[in-house]
Amino acid sequence: MPRRDFVALGASALAFGGCAGAAYVVPRSAPGRLSISVGDVGADGVLMQTADMARPIYVRRLTSGELVAVLASCTHQGCQPEPASDRLICPCHGSEFSFDGAVLQGPAERALVRYAVTEESGDVVVWLQGRGAP
Ligand code: FES
Repeated sequence: MPRRDFVALGASALAFGGCAGAAYVVPRSAPGRLSISVGDVGADGVLMQTADMARPIYVRRLTSGELVAVLASCTHQGCQPEPASDRLICPCHGSEFSFDGAVLQGPAERALVRYAVTEESGDVVVWLQGRGAP
């Protein structure tokens, strides 16, 4: 399978805020880390997911330049929040989260799980240690 394997477009994002949608990318996997190319992180962010992940990790570069990565699993009841133009919106009961995972609107009361992110030699590396497997 090619390293960069686009599985599907985040079409459901179109229903929430008119965002063009974040692509899905299958990351390279190593113990405790997932990585993609810096170029995989489009303007709308990217959803990285391997076959054994129940939910993807959403990676986005903020306007400050900082890269953030959050588990796209709503802390209310576990649905998948979808990226919109300026936030993540849960389709199940309407919770909203900032791109760095903070709750903007309930019913969710807890932030999304956030992962450390680094850039290394043209790659974006998401560090899974201490945060639980997605
Ligand atoms: Fe996301 Fe309920 S599961 S708001």
